Amino acid sequence: MAVDLLTTNETYFYREPKHFNFLQSVLAEWQGEKAPLIWSAACSSGEEPYTIAMLMAEAFGSRPWHILASDISMRMLESARTALYPLSRAKELPTSFLKKYCLKGHGDFEGYLLLEDKLKQRVQFAQRNLMEPQQLETKVDVIFLRNVLIYFDNKTKSQIINNLSRCLKPEGLLFIGHSDLCMALASNLLPLNRRYIATKGHAHEQECVFKTG
Ligand SMILES: C[S@@+](CC[C@H](N)C(=O)[O-])C[C@H]1O[C@@H](n2cnc3c(N)ncnc32)[C@H](O)[C@@H]1O
Repeated sequence: MAVDLLTTNETYFYREPKHFNFLQSVLAEWQGEKAPLIWSAACSSGEEPYTIAMLMAEAFGSRPWHILASDISMRMLESARTALYPLSRAKELPTSFLKKYCLKGHGDFEGYLLLEDKLKQRVQFAQRNLMEPQQLETKVDVIFLRNVLIYFDNKTKSQIINNLSRCLKPEGLLFIGHSDLCMALASNLLPLNRRYIATKGHAHEQECVFKTG
C-alpha cells in the first residue's frame, strides 16, 4: 500500500520510557470503577499497545480490561496480531516484563520473542485512518498518538488532534511523541487546541502529555 512507502513503521517495546513510567503512575493511582480504556492510535507492528498491555496487566491483573490499537497499514496490523518480534525490539523493555510476558524463541526462532497469548487476547486491532473522522463505541481514557504526526502538514495535524480529542473522556490523557511535539509546537498546534492543558508533572512528561479539561 502506498502509505507504507511514505511513512516509517519503526517502533519497539518501551519506546520513550518516560511516557510509560508516567502511565504506570497514572494506573497505580487509578480511582475509576473500571480499568481505563487506552487506545494506541498508530500502533504499527504492535510493540506500543503490547507495552501498554504489560503495564495494564501489572496494575489490573485478571480484572476486565482491554486495549484498542489501530493503524492504517494492514501489513503492520497482521504483524501485530502475530506478535513475533526480533529480540532487538525489546532492548528497552524491563527484563522482568520480558520474562513474565514473552516466550523466548528456540531453533528456527532463535533471536525472537513471542508475546504470551494471555496478553495478546487483551488487545483489539483494527484498521483506522487518522485522516478520517473517528468514531468509537465508547470514549477512551487515554490515547497514544506517537511518532505519526510528523507525516502530516500543520492543518492535518490539527484536524487529527481535534478528531481524536473528541474520542477522549473528560480528564482524558493524550500522549504525543517527543519528535511530534516539536513539530506541533512549531506549528502553533497547542494554541489551536485550547482545551488541552499540559499536566503538571515532570518536565519531560509535561512536554508530551496533554489532558482534556
Ligand atoms: C513510526 S510508526 C509509530 C509507531 C508507534 N506509535 C511508536 O511511537 O512507536 C508510525 C505509524 O503510523 C501509521 N500511519 C501513518 N499514516 C497513518 C494514518 N493516516 N492513519 C493511521 N496510521 C497511520 C504507519 O502505518 C506507521 O505504522
